[in-house]
Amino acid sequence: MDHFSLVDGALHCEGVPLAAIAEAVGTPVYVYSSAMFEQNARAFREGLAGAGDVHLAYAIKANPNLGVLRVLAKAGYGADVVSGGELARALAAGIPAADIVFSGVGKTDAELNAALDVGLGQFNLELEEEGVVLAQIAAARGLRADATLRVNPDVDAGTHAKISTGKRENKFGVPIDQAPAIFARLAALPGLAMRGVAMHIGSQLSELGPLEAAYARIGALVAELRAAGHPIERVDLGGGLGIPYRAGETFPSPVEYGAMVARVTKDWGVRLMFEPGRFIAGNAGVLLTEVIWVKPGVPTPYVIVDAAMNDLARPAMYDAWHDFAAVRPTGERMTANIAGPVCETGDTFAMGRDIDVVKRGDLAIFRTAGAYGATMSSTYNSRAWVAEVLVDGDRFAVVADRILPETVLAAERVPEWLKPEAS
Ligand code: LLP
Repeated sequence: MDHFSLVDGALHCEGVPLAAIAEAVGTPVYVYSSAMFEQNARAFREGLAGAGDVHLAYAIKANPNLGVLRVLAKAGYGADVVSGGELARALAAGIPAADIVFSGVGKTDAELNAALDVGLGQFNLELEEEGVVLAQIAAARGLRADATLRVNPDVDAGTHAKISTGKRENKFGVPIDQAPAIFARLAALPGLAMRGVAMHIGSQLSELGPLEAAYARIGALVAELRAAGHPIERVDLGGGLGIPYRAGETFPSPVEYGAMVARVTKDWGVRLMFEPGRFIAGNAGVLLTEVIWVKPGVPTPYVIVDAAMNDLARPAMYDAWHDFAAVRPTGERMTANIAGPVCETGDTFAMGRDIDVVKRGDLAIFRTAGAYGATMSSTYNSRAWVAEVLVDGDRFAVVADRILPETVLAAERVPEWLKPEAS
């Protein structure tokens, strides 16, 4: 049960009618439930309660909105960041630098320096040379950077190829067989304090098997590193726990996940770190949209909504499913394709879907859009940048303004030689 449900025949987010948000802010707009974020954050934490010393770092990439980050900071979450921009957001939300982990395969020198400036909790190193450069930068500044080595355990996570990260041919981490030698060389550098190892094999994982296989490999590596004299204090087990997007899908619960983690890691004697993103944010948000037309189509009508692939890229990018529901359902059903206004056939949210009957002017939502929704949006087709609203009980606030095409245009320049006056 999530916090988007029918009250007196109309969809609400917590105590707020979605129609009231559309009226005040316009559409398309992402609507987030504070209570849902909090419930997910608590469920994840409680699931891992039996796994010993645990540090939770919310993967900001899933939903980096500042208001959302405040909710999670208040819930006691640290942050997993992958860019200087995400680092700045985490700090702006009041997450202590010591609770922030910096992942990512292409950290620039500027980003490494910015993270050292604030006393970052942990760098997850993706290749040996990154460690060497970080050590040089830190040593030159009289610092020692806390770091782990990200290892690629070479397991098939069984997820969409575009979001699988733990196979040998993926760009992430160092090959597990080379990890002991790389770790030893990095541990010898004065600018680095090598605290342990990290891994992440992919996102939207539907089974625990691949995670367990990866963790078992990491456990063996920890034992090998310890035998070589390295004091391993931390293991970062990444994110990846999947969530249902459509009726009937089942996923491991945090309790099942936590039981597996506790069993596999019981002898490790380390601080375990986790980087959940989708599990925390996914079902805490919907994309609220208005139906522009119901256009006759062959053989199925097209429901053309005012949200498009630039607002929610997942269907176009990964063939992802997002449930569609009318804000005021009549009880009648129809079969339709659902598409946005962007001039691409790929700007389609669903084909031949059984949906609530909707007509021009009706409001509807795409569910489970709180993770990898607004954050992956763009202004393609010179559309506005989508707005975001956070609900808390019976109040709501705009937490990201709609950025209008005029504002984007104002940041562009015509060079002198192309100005109309010049010709
Ligand atoms: N840690 C690392 C190092 C990651 O690369 C990711 C996600 C996470 C944590 C969080 O994973 P989660 O718990 O959210 O599964 N845009 C795609 C998902 C990309 C995920 C990339 N990495 C989508 O819309 O499905």
